[in-house]
Amino acid sequence: MGLSFSYNRVDQETVSLLKSAIGKNNVSSDEEKLLSYSHDEVPSSAYEGTHMAELLVFPETAGHVSEIMKIASAKRIPVTPRGAGTGLSGGALPAFGGIVMSFEKMNRIIELDEKNLTITVEPGVVTSEISKMAAAHDLLYAGDPCSGDASFIGGNIAENAGGNKVVKYGATGAQVLALEVVLADGTITWFGGKRRKDVTGLDFTHLMAGSEGTLAIITKAVLKLLPLPRHSADLLAAFPDPETAIAFVPQIIKKGGIVPASIEFMDQKALSLAEKYLNYPVPAGEAGAALIIQLEGNDPEILEKEYEKIGNLSKENGAYEVYVADTRTTKERIWQVRKAIPEATSFFYSRYTKEDLVVPTDRVPDLLGKIRDICSAANLEWVTYGHAGDGNMHCTVIGPPADNWHEVLRGVQEKIYSAVIEMGGTLSGEHGIGFKRKSDMKLFLDRKQIELIKRVKLAFDPDNILNPGKMVEWDQ
Ligand code: MLT
Ligand code: ZN
Repeated sequence: MGLSFSYNRVDQETVSLLKSAIGKNNVSSDEEKLLSYSHDEVPSSAYEGTHMAELLVFPETAGHVSEIMKIASAKRIPVTPRGAGTGLSGGALPAFGGIVMSFEKMNRIIELDEKNLTITVEPGVVTSEISKMAAAHDLLYAGDPCSGDASFIGGNIAENAGGNKVVKYGATGAQVLALEVVLADGTITWFGGKRRKDVTGLDFTHLMAGSEGTLAIITKAVLKLLPLPRHSADLLAAFPDPETAIAFVPQIIKKGGIVPASIEFMDQKALSLAEKYLNYPVPAGEAGAALIIQLEGNDPEILEKEYEKIGNLSKENGAYEVYVADTRTTKERIWQVRKAIPEATSFFYSRYTKEDLVVPTDRVPDLLGKIRDICSAANLEWVTYGHAGDGNMHCTVIGPPADNWHEVLRGVQEKIYSAVIEMGGTLSGEHGIGFKRKSDMKLFLDRKQIELIKRVKLAFDPDNILNPGKMVEWDQ
């Protein structure tokens, strides 16, 4: 389905219409701001050309979003919804210019319903604020992306963000019960409700999760809450090498008889980069690889028995040291190491490709082996870390100091992708396709599936004005 779309530029009349619809303080064409709202955390060196917003809008209500969409659709101007800009796929990049819609002013927690165990929020609420509010009521919001202290919940839903607790609780989409959305033509509607079951029609609520702002704009979300586990402990198990660490992962659930909240993996390069970046000796800093295993429970004695069991099992399966963190400070020390890895990588290197691969969990050891073989053969350094419990491994391949580093990395990427496909894996588990990975979709999905994505997109947004230039290529 090869199609092309034409868009109009933002003219003075559009600016005036928008100012009178949502207030002049909610519209900006300030050059510096336009620049800073025109990218996410993908380095600009990853793309050719520049992509700049022509106008920024800061809606305060769903009514404002509706007015903006009515104007944009009448004038055929692209609209790129934007959360906190913490994305890792170029999803918030205004690929065709136009309007960038920031949700920073829609940041209210509207309701915490203790009877139905739900929390209703606007899209600009910082994710960790939701967790804090829930915890203040002895409840758990289980979405836990690594960027949770900065990212907005709207972006988490649009990307179906994963993070550290997917192994037990599922990704962001699994936490969503209902969404208020604004469609491309400005219609405001609700998908889902405060209901735990719903087969009345198609499941639009969960179609929105991971749709990257291409189908409709989220203006409210009703999220699931759970009882807050009263106690938790984090085990940091140090292994001599990545193979031994990763081979232990399936044993944790099977032989341990427990589903941990997190099972995170870090290779030696990841540990040493984090240590260099944090600038202090970190636990397991010298290990060949390490796992963080987080256990939760309500009874401290049972929890202690469980972590002793997992600790012993780790040692039987090759760990040479197991640190147990059960105080706030010791837990923070462990997670600081894990969370520092992406920042450390982008701090020490400017030429790299960051991959977000997923394979069936039993193939993670094969994936690590393939990455090692492919990168070593190309004489390149690499870092592997990530969500071993759900098969989602991040792999950052460092580019060589040569002019053709893009080409070299592309060659390595193609080899890694073929291996991932052979293992029944896929291109992205949580960072999304966005602008960055759209040209690789054809490697992972067949023509028919890509055509279906396009048909669904056009059913929601016939003029393709909502976050165009993302997820799929239209000229093919
Ligand atoms: C992580 O697991 O640390 C996040 O997905 C962020 C990243 O890899 O950059
Ligand atoms: Zn991750």
